[in-house]
Order: sequence, then C-alpha cells, then structure tokens
Amino acid sequence: MAQQVKAVIARAKGAPVEVTTIVVPDPGPGEAVVRIQACGVCHTDLHYREGGINDEFPFLLGHEAAGIVESVGEGVTEVGPGDFVILNWRAVCGQCRACKRGRPQYCFATHNAGQKMTLLDGTELSPALGIGAFAEKTLVAAGQCTKVDPAAEPAVAGLLGCGVMAGLGAAINTGGVGRGDSVAVIGCGGVGGAAVLGSRLAGAAKIIAVDIDDRKLAGAQRLGATHTVNSRTTDPVEAIRALTDGNGADVVVDAVGRPETYTQAFYARDLAGTVVLVGVPTPEMKLELPLLDVFGRGGALKSSWYGDCLPSRDFPMLIDLYLQGRLDLGAFVTETIPLDGVEQAFARMHEGDVLRSVVVL
Ligand SMILES: NC(=O)c1ccc[n+]([C@@H]2O[C@H](COP(=O)([O-])OP(=O)(O)OC[C@H]3O[C@@H](n4cnc5c(N)ncnc54)[C@H](O)[C@@H]3O)[C@@H](O)[C@H]2O)c1
Ligand SMILES: [Zn+2]
Ligand SMILES: [Zn+2]
Repeated sequence: MAQQVKAVIARAKGAPVEVTTIVVPDPGPGEAVVRIQACGVCHTDLHYREGGINDEFPFLLGHEAAGIVESVGEGVTEVGPGDFVILNWRAVCGQCRACKRGRPQYCFATHNAGQKMTLLDGTELSPALGIGAFAEKTLVAAGQCTKVDPAAEPAVAGLLGCGVMAGLGAAINTGGVGRGDSVAVIGCGGVGGAAVLGSRLAGAAKIIAVDIDDRKLAGAQRLGATHTVNSRTTDPVEAIRALTDGNGADVVVDAVGRPETYTQAFYARDLAGTVVLVGVPTPEMKLELPLLDVFGRGGALKSSWYGDCLPSRDFPMLIDLYLQGRLDLGAFVTETIPLDGVEQAFARMHEGDVLRSVVVL
C-alpha cells in the first residue's frame, strides 16, 4: 500500500518551500522505503528552489539524510528493515565503462528509485539528487542506502550523505591532501568546513581558511584551520602566498564556486599545485584565464563531485572515526529544526548564521 507522509516541496522557482502531503509507493524491485530520522539543509537545496539546477518543479527537497529502512522490494539483499543507513546519491551501477575500469566513483549510471513519489493529485515529484528526504519517509534505490554503525547520532550521520562528504572528499580524495601539505579552503560553510576537517585528518601542515564572514572563519579554526583570511578585507591570493613562503598552497579548494573565487584559487596555489572546485556554479557563470597561465603554472585543475567518494567504502569508515572521537562531525550541526523550519533555515544559511540546520523527525 502506498503511504501518505508529510514532506517539504518547492513548487515553483523562487517561491517559499511548503510542507505538504506526498504519496510514497511501496518499494518495487531494487527499491527501499526509508523512515527519515534527520536531514540536513544543504546549499544545493536552495539552488534547486531557485531553479539553479534545472526546472523540473515540483522538487521534493532534502538529501543529507539518515534513517531506518522500513521495507525493501524484491531482490534487495544488501539492506533490510531495521537497518540504520545514510542515504547516498552515488549508488554505483557496476556496469558502465567507469565502473568496469575500476573507477566506480565516476559511475555514469548511478541508481535511483524507478517509481515516482507524487503529490496527492498525482503530480510527479523530482527528488533532490534522487533522494528527497525532507519527508517522514522516502523511496530510493536500495543501493542508495549505506549501512553504518547505529551508535551514530542521525543528525550527525546524515550530513555525510552530501555536503560534509563532498568537502572531506574534495580535500582527501580529489585533492589528495597528504601529510605536510599546505592547503587553502575558500568558503568555509558546511562543505568548506569539511574540507578543513579533512585536511587536518590527512595531516596537512598548514590549513588556511578563507571566507568573507568572520563567524565562518572562527568555525573553521575550531575544525582545524591554522590560519584565517577574511577576503572581504584582505586579498586572499597575496595572503595565502605570504603564509606559504611566497609560493602558494599545494592544494586550494574552492567551496564557493564563483568565477572570482575560482580565479583566486587558481593564483593562490603553488606551481604544480592542485585546484579543486567543489562549490557549484550557476549556468550563466563564465571563467576567463590567460591560457598561458593555465599552461605555465602546471599542476592539476580538478572538479569534485561528492568528494569523489564511494559511499560503501567511505561512510562506515568516517562514522567509525567519528565514534572514536577522531573526526568532529558533530561540529557541523548548528541547530536542529522541525520539518516546517526549512524556509527559515534557508534564510539563516543566506545570512551565514549556520554551518548546518538539520531537520529532525
Ligand atoms: N560538488 C558537490 O558534490 C557538492 C556537494 C554539496 C554542496 N556543494 C556546493 O558547495 C557549495 C557550498 O555549500 P555549503 O552548503 O557549504 O554552503 P554555505 O552557504 O554553508 O557556505 C558557503 C560559504 O561561502 C562563503 N562565501 C560566499 N561567497 C564568498 C566569497 N566570494 N569568498 C569567500 N567565501 C565566500 C560564505 O560566507 C559561506 O561561509 C555550494 O555551491 C553547494 O551547492 C557541492
Ligand atoms: Zn557505473
Ligand atoms: Zn548537498
């Protein structure tokens, strides 16, 4: 029997989000219904609401979630009812050319639920990143459920499902930050803050946090930044060079995703250093760089989708480090809010008041 549950949707571009009743079908073959316990508010949800991702409204928002598997469809063996899981947006197919070459983190055909969740009138919903978890329950592909130690707090665990994993992975997977490296992170919200934390975990010697908001810089310091630069008042390229003996950082992570921050990242890295773009640009943004500088400075310009993570490999390991007290994932939960608090949470995100607001059900 399909179920009716409360959920947060974005009906039209720019309109405030609303809590409404949606219909969640029973899981079909390869699918699972998950009772959501917690779901973080990510900047990408706001991008969806503003029509910055695509125009397939209405969206069922929310995608940084943890919960309990309620039921599974035919043929599902990897998870079962009662399992504590983090939802992921990289359920790899195992069949595409990336998977077959042993690079499943680049899978081109990741799985989502085949059936659609709908409004009461039958209108099909587009779940954010194929998840849609500002909802009492959601329908996903079973491979989108990653089992982790149930001792973890759902509000903390869920954040690994997107932004925190994206930031940690941007530093340690995509950027390959290692012991003794110098790292600069531009934009220290949930994603950039996690890149700072990941750099510390990997043993970076110098971690320079850059933001336009002093509160975010203070937060980054608590996560492991060794130096901070307010780029509203100080030129970040000069500051990063000055802090690295005039060279620039080995790895610079752009966790904002604007032409100006990318340009800063490009010139703030050392010769042969690596730039990692993890912030998501909007369609109208253009980048202009002297091609000779792109060539002459060498190194690598990389983009990071979801921190190049493999959920089955990374989520349980990171949750274990968290439970051992070695990775302060709890620091990202600024506040917990009810399902009808998402619109206000967007406003607070916009004002820079929070790292993460987390809906707890
Ligand atoms: N690549 C991925 O897989 C992935 C996953 C999740 C989120 N994201 C993207 O990462 C970005 C950050 O997400 P978030 O949730 O951390 O957002 P957030 O709003 O919490 O943080 C953004 C931070 O950037 C700072 N900032 C804004 N403009 C700046 C500028 N010009 N210079 C320096 N700092 C600036 C803000 O003060 C804030 O601290 C978003 O674009 C989001 O869509 C990407
Ligand atoms: Zn694949
Ligand atoms: Zn996200």
